[in-house]
Amino acid sequence: MVIRKKKQPEEAPVLAVDGPSGSGKGTVCRLLARELGWNLLDSGALYRLVGIAARNHRVGLDNHVALEVLAGHLDVQFLPGAGDDEGRVILEGEDVGPMLRSEEVGALASEVAAVPAVRSALLTRQRAFRIPPGLVADGRDMGTVVFPDATLKVFLTASVGERAERRYKQLKDKGEAVSLPRLVEDIEARDRRDTERAVAPLRPAPDAVLVDTTGMGITEVFLRLMAEVKERGIV
Ligand code: DC
Repeated sequence: MVIRKKKQPEEAPVLAVDGPSGSGKGTVCRLLARELGWNLLDSGALYRLVGIAARNHRVGLDNHVALEVLAGHLDVQFLPGAGDDEGRVILEGEDVGPMLRSEEVGALASEVAAVPAVRSALLTRQRAFRIPPGLVADGRDMGTVVFPDATLKVFLTASVGERAERRYKQLKDKGEAVSLPRLVEDIEARDRRDTERAVAPLRPAPDAVLVDTTGMGITEVFLRLMAEVKERGIV
């Protein structure tokens, strides 16, 4: 009889998907996690939550010590939803789902994400998502910093124009008033902040597979990544 050793959490395979806002990461990661039956880490949500917590507690974005404490002690619960339902996110007892994806909170997140102490305070929490049978990790530094030993690293990009249009559609569908030229400016500013910051800047890991999703539909991106997963014998 062959006795198989139970896999330790740190041995669970990780699919690290990095890229700028609007590259399609969020949706494709959700589809991949569902298809593979793996855990999902939306690391951007953690930075967004730190931004909301800072606003709730009136912590200034220049108060790095207080931001580090908030990041290290986030009282948050991710309640999974069924089917297409994204589930709920409860921060300090409040359902923050509706505001989590807003442009305003995205801008706050980008600011707190540039604070090195916030990034290190979130490391352990992010790594705790790595549990068998595997993890799909969505972010900016999944393959470079958080899971440098990831089983497969993917870097998704798309032109600024296309990313702005995708975001425009998403926000309009949610009933948010937005202007396309303003979104282009916001995306360019956020890209600059994310790529030029000193700690964990947005860049592909040297061993990442680069996929430009400009002109690709989400199903095409999903199938492309599933093909990579299968080709490498990950599942
Ligand atoms: O993916 P998102 O839009 O939810 O991310 C919000 C902000 O957080 C974005 O400006 C980049 C930052 N972020 C980061 O610096 N590192 C991550 N791993 C994820 C997000």
